[in-house]
Amino acid sequence: MILETIVTTSSADGTPHLAPMGVHLSGPEYLILPFRPSTTLSNILATGCAVTNATDDVRVFAGCLTGRRDWPLVRADCVKGVRLMHTLSHTELELIRLDDDPVRPRLVCRAVHEAVHGPFTGFNRGQLSVIEASILVSRLDLLPLEKIEQELAFLRIGLEKTAGPRELEAWDWLMTRVATWRRNAGWSVTSGAEET
Ligand SMILES: Cc1cc2nc3c(=O)[nH]c(=O)nc-3n(C[C@H](O)[C@H](O)[C@H](O)COP(=O)(O)O)c2cc1C
Repeated sequence: MILETIVTTSSADGTPHLAPMGVHLSGPEYLILPFRPSTTLSNILATGCAVTNATDDVRVFAGCLTGRRDWPLVRADCVKGVRLMHTLSHTELELIRLDDDPVRPRLVCRAVHEAVHGPFTGFNRGQLSVIEASILVSRLDLLPLEKIEQELAFLRIGLEKTAGPRELEAWDWLMTRVATWRRNAGWSVTSGAEET
């Protein structure tokens, strides 16, 4: 199973970093697979640890992809690193092994500590829409425009039917980014606002 989480890490000098990452659960192992180059990869190799944050605030996912990384953090309980202050739960990981690869190394980790901070209140289709749209935004230069447009049109249905203010704000950030990308790529802008 792959969990879409926010991975928080710190550099050797303590500079924190956040990135959405799909973390693969394989028995007791947590696999983090960053594409090179990656600050998350450098930080985990420097400190030997990472934290996965299970948050239902999808603005953090969309924010990281649109230059909004300034989310409140607190020190992790057991490892050298940080976690999101507002997260439903977090798991602190220790690096066991690096399976190196020139494109996408595998960081094999194990959990050394976890804690629950708030209740899971249920699923919301708007959250799915924002997470999927965040993935599309992270691949704007890799995917055909037609596929991006089709997928966003589908994701917008669930968003418009079910979203709350957090999901709508996150969606807005992403659509602004898509509009800017379209303009820079020479496509006409059909949806979303322009970035200033
Ligand atoms: C839900 C979600 C899952 C992602 N999973 C991965 C992943 O497994 N590996 C990866 O390299 N990037 C992934 N990304 C994209 C990264 O978050 C983004 O490219 C980030 O900048 C990674 O680079 P960094 O470690 O330098 O921050 C994901 C993005 C989203 C929205």
